[in-house]
Amino acid sequence: MPNLIPAPASLQRLEGDPHHGEPPHGELTGSGAPESYALEVTSDRVTLTAPDEAGLFYGRRTLEQLRGPDGSMPPVRIEDAPRFAHRGVMLDVARHFFGVADVKRFIDLAAGYKLNVLHLHLTDDQGWRLESPKWPRLTSTGATTQIGGGPGGFYTRQDYAEIVRYAGERFMTVIPELDVPGHTNAALLAYPELGPDGVAPPPETGIHSPGRSLNVGDPAVLRFLDDVVGELAQITPGPYIHLGADEVEGMTDDDYRAFIHAAAEIVSRHGKRMIGWEEMAAVELPPGVIVQFWTDPKLRDAAVRQGAPLIMSPAPHTYLDQKYDASTELGLSWAGNVDVRDAYEWEPGDDALGVEAALWTETVEDFGAIAYMTLPRLPAVAEVAWSARRDWEDFKLRLAAHGPQWEALGLNFHRSPQVPWTAS
Ligand code: ACM
Repeated sequence: MPNLIPAPASLQRLEGDPHHGEPPHGELTGSGAPESYALEVTSDRVTLTAPDEAGLFYGRRTLEQLRGPDGSMPPVRIEDAPRFAHRGVMLDVARHFFGVADVKRFIDLAAGYKLNVLHLHLTDDQGWRLESPKWPRLTSTGATTQIGGGPGGFYTRQDYAEIVRYAGERFMTVIPELDVPGHTNAALLAYPELGPDGVAPPPETGIHSPGRSLNVGDPAVLRFLDDVVGELAQITPGPYIHLGADEVEGMTDDDYRAFIHAAAEIVSRHGKRMIGWEEMAAVELPPGVIVQFWTDPKLRDAAVRQGAPLIMSPAPHTYLDQKYDASTELGLSWAGNVDVRDAYEWEPGDDALGVEAALWTETVEDFGAIAYMTLPRLPAVAEVAWSARRDWEDFKLRLAAHGPQWEALGLNFHRSPQVPWTAS
C-alpha cells in the first residue's frame, strides 16, 4: 500500500524556507528499476513510492522543483527512472582549493539535479589537496600553492571522510582523482626524488602545466603510488579510484603503457577499479579500467574498440570551465563557447556507462564563481544523464522557473539569453 501523504498542508510548511523541513518521505515498494520513483500529486494528496531510498530522494527533489513560488503544486503523475547509472560532476579543487563547506554546497546543487557521482580532482600541478600520512610533504609543501599565488589548502583525512559522508547522505558516490604521472608539479615540489632529475621544480601558480612527470621507470615511484592509493582506498567507500593519466609529456609510449598497467594493478590490489582520462586508450588498456572521454574522438573510439566502458565528458558540451559566450568574464574558451543549449543538446550514446560534467578551476576562485559557471549548465547535463527524451523548447521553459529558486537560495547564476527567465 502506498503511503498517502496529505497535501498541500505538509508541503506548505516548506514555503519561504527551502532549507528547513522535508517534503513527504514516501514509501519503499521493494520492486522497480534502481533509483526510480513514482509520484502523484492530486488536489488533496501527494503519493511518492520508490524501490530504494535513492528513488525516494529523487522523488522529493522533483517535488521541490514542482512547487511554485506560492507553495502550490500542479496535479501530475510521474513515473521516472534514470537512463544512466553514472551521473556525475567533477570539481577541480587543485588549481584553486575549496574548503569542505564549499564542497558541501556543490554537493547540494548536484544532488538537487539527481546526480549521483562527485568526482574530486584532488591533485594537479598547482596543488596536492589530500593529506597523506606516509608522504606528509605532499600537503605541508605541495598544498601551499594555487593559481594566482593564494595560500592553497588541503583536506585532512577527516575532512575527506566528512565530504564522503555528506555526499553519501545525498546518494552521491565520491570518485577521488590523483592525477598521475603528468600534472604532478606539486608532488615533485614536495618530493623531488620522484622526478627524473631529483631537482625540485619551481612552484606552479599559473594556469598552464609545466609538463613535468613522475619518473615512471623508478620503482620508488610505484611504491609512492601504492602508498597514496592504499591510503585513499581506506577512506573511500565507493568502488573507483581515478588516476588521471591525461596530457603526459616527455614519456615514451612503452613507459606510459607500463605505468598504466602497474597503476591499474595497484588500484585493483587495493580493492578498487581504475578510471583514467581518454589518453590511456592510446595504449593497450589493462583489463577492467574505465575511460573518461573529454576531447579526442579517436581515443574514444580506441577505448570502445578495446571494450572499455566510457564516461562521457565531451568538452564542447560538459566542460563548465568554458565561457558561455564571448562576453563571459570567467572561463577558458579552447573548446569553444558552451552555452546552456550546447550543454543540453548532445547524445552520449546508449553504450556509455554515464555522463559527467567537469568544472576545472583555472579562473574559478570562490563559490560565487562555482555557482555562476555551474548554473544553468549543470541541470542541462544532468538531464542528458537522466533522460533519453529531450526537448530544448520544453527544457528552457522548465529551466527558466529555476531562476527564482536559485535567487531565493542566494545562488549566483548566468542569465543565458537562450532561456526566457521569469522576473523575480
Ligand atoms: C583534461 O581536461 N585534461 C582531462
